[in-house]
Amino acid sequence: MKQSYFELIDQTYYFPQPGFDIENGNLYFNNVSLKHMIDKYGTPLKISYLPRIGEQIKRVKNLFSKSIKANGYKGKYNYCYCTKSSHFSFIIKEVLKYGVSLETSSSYDLDIILKLHEEGLITKNIKLVQNGHKTDGYLQKIAQLHNAGFKNLIVVLDSLHELDRLLPLIESGTIQVGIRMAIDEEPQSAYYTSRMGIRPADVMNFYKEKIADNPKVKLRMLHYFVDSGIKDTLYYWGLFQKGLNLYVELKKQCESLSAFNIGGGLPIRNNLGFEYDYNYIINEIVRNIKDTCTSEGIDDPDIFTEFGRYTVGESGAIIFKTLEVKQQNDAELWYIIDNSLMTTIPDSWSIFEKFILLPVNNWDKEYSKVNIGGITCDHSDYYNTEDLNQQVFLPKIKNADEEPLYMGFFHTGAYQDSISGYGGLKHCLIPAPKHVVIERDENGLLRDYLFKDEQKVEDMLRILGFLDK
Ligand SMILES: Cc1ncc(COP(=O)(O)O)c(C=O)c1O
Repeated sequence: MKQSYFELIDQTYYFPQPGFDIENGNLYFNNVSLKHMIDKYGTPLKISYLPRIGEQIKRVKNLFSKSIKANGYKGKYNYCYCTKSSHFSFIIKEVLKYGVSLETSSSYDLDIILKLHEEGLITKNIKLVQNGHKTDGYLQKIAQLHNAGFKNLIVVLDSLHELDRLLPLIESGTIQVGIRMAIDEEPQSAYYTSRMGIRPADVMNFYKEKIADNPKVKLRMLHYFVDSGIKDTLYYWGLFQKGLNLYVELKKQCESLSAFNIGGGLPIRNNLGFEYDYNYIINEIVRNIKDTCTSEGIDDPDIFTEFGRYTVGESGAIIFKTLEVKQQNDAELWYIIDNSLMTTIPDSWSIFEKFILLPVNNWDKEYSKVNIGGITCDHSDYYNTEDLNQQVFLPKIKNADEEPLYMGFFHTGAYQDSISGYGGLKHCLIPAPKHVVIERDENGLLRDYLFKDEQKVEDMLRILGFLDK
């Protein structure tokens, strides 16, 4: 007897599972009937389910407080939301309900901070970590915030030159800085050392020459970020210890240093079989810092994290309808959907990231191996492998008009909008460059004109929902 799609999932995974359930043969996402959403709004359809964000933040905050207590840890924990993972106004406003700090990565990001302050959603006491490469514009906005009385900025220096460019802009008082330690990439990477941050071998000298005796600046934080994520591997713990050793070395010279920032990288569920022991990992982070600091005789630092994907990833979903079913050879069955995977979940083709894929309806139908294709003309616009599988299964339909099939890609809430350029957004809010057109005039001579100026901050704020018009 042929198995139904439901039986396949039920036998392969623990199902239903948090966030996913079936009622009357239709899929519910966080108790929301997707069929109802489709009937109401049609497809293709993006969904941001905001309550998930608070659940994520609360879980990690609780695990850190539990570990801090269990290990007799003396420092505090600061949950920073990495805004670049999703800058939408409704996301940042939701995140702020849970008492988090913010980590920014570019100049326009700080316009968002000014806007939030203008709307009374943050005060000048909020902790703000400024990460990323510091353009002149970014440095000017940092100085603007400092000069306006934002007390808890921590400017994480990404290179040996940023401090010299920042200090002339600071009108009075002392500015707190951090240093980002450049990490060694994973062995399979195309290069060895990250371009982000300062080489560990240069950090001590830089501190002694530029910070130690400078009354305008105080070193508060050491930061590093392993972009392949926080994993229980030798590679991850090796870098973690390297960061910690540098922290100890610096702390022995620098009284004001009191924060250790391990960046982002906490994973989310990208398949139904996902297993990750958040409790264990967080306890290991706290325990290792505690052990090292105790044996070196230094105070436990405040721990900062900058979780982006973890905070918003699981709040997002995108729903498509199958437009056409095409059997292209004996083995290859295509479901053509009513949009593009390349332009809605760009990580799926650019870095082969996988998301949870589930049908919304037809769970009682027999299943089939399928390829999912977008309607762009690009051959890369397809999805046919899952994280744990070299194939994708969905309910089998023969005719998309007679048997409508809807499907959703889930946990797509982080990075996909900025990378795909949703409405004109850009990754890290780095504006589109000005655009000059060069053409030949009637006499055959070249002439040029400015087609579009550089993208303005107002353009971005409008797309993100911070400005009405
Ligand atoms: C400096 C820094 N911190 C935090 C993050 C967030 O990482 P994730 O979304 O994996 O938590 C990033 C992402 O690129 C980053 O560059």
